[in-house]
Amino acid sequence: MSAAPLQVAALTDGLSLRRVGRHVVCIGDCDSTNLEAARRVAEAGRGIDGWVIFAERQTAGRGRLGRRWDAPRGSSILMTAIICEPTAVAQRLVLAAAVAVCDAVQDAAHVTAALRWPNDVYVGPRKLAGVLVESTPIAGTERAFLVGIGVNCLQHAAHFAPELSARATSLEIESHEPVDRVAVARQMLTRLDEWVGRIDGAADKTLSEAWLARSGEIGQRIELVRDGVQFRGTVVDLDPSEGLLVQLDGGGRALFDPLTTRRGG
Ligand code: BTN
Repeated sequence: MSAAPLQVAALTDGLSLRRVGRHVVCIGDCDSTNLEAARRVAEAGRGIDGWVIFAERQTAGRGRLGRRWDAPRGSSILMTAIICEPTAVAQRLVLAAAVAVCDAVQDAAHVTAALRWPNDVYVGPRKLAGVLVESTPIAGTERAFLVGIGVNCLQHAAHFAPELSARATSLEIESHEPVDRVAVARQMLTRLDEWVGRIDGAADKTLSEAWLARSGEIGQRIELVRDGVQFRGTVVDLDPSEGLLVQLDGGGRALFDPLTTRRGG
């Protein structure tokens, strides 16, 4: 993969970002941008709220549910935004990041993606991007949320492991024009800043409505696993703080938290 490394000036010049991206760091290799962000929080504390770390390659990229996230050097957007908040906003950050990815790839590469609960970004049956929100303590009740995002940009089918090739895609595969990784990264900063600006207010439906507008989940059948127990039902709604509302086949409705539930089936 021969893409030029991402550089701070190219990513940020001309952007007016309020919080996310007020300071950007571009590094070459690291274990994981989420781990790198956690180390920087441990050193600097809440002063680095809004910082974003981009890497060219991760040697121990982390996916949800203990999975790995692998990408050839220079192929992808591998980034973590640090958001320090006194309250438990992890669920709303998950939604905000997923909506931001969807908007960014539309704007930068004219690829229309769809969200799959809780935070996967798909084009048709193939996964384009993923979001992993972790957190680390700062002081008192305040935590630094590490909003990790991976977007496949320049990969061709042969770059994916054989077991993933039918289930993974990239902007280069989906787009009808050459993909500019810098343009994707700039849109990621812009859209993440915009949507993270809307995480306040548990009752605010703007975020969940935006998420729903970019997904086809309402009315769909879904299988979910929580604490080893499988649930089947039909998706009814999305609460920005509580999670997915499902009409269960066995009767009654239940809310499913994106941090403790995985899809089954
Ligand atoms: C998923 O499993 O869908 C979530 C994948 C998240 C991957 C990104 S890449 C940048 C950041 N650093 C990591 O180690 N993981 C996230």
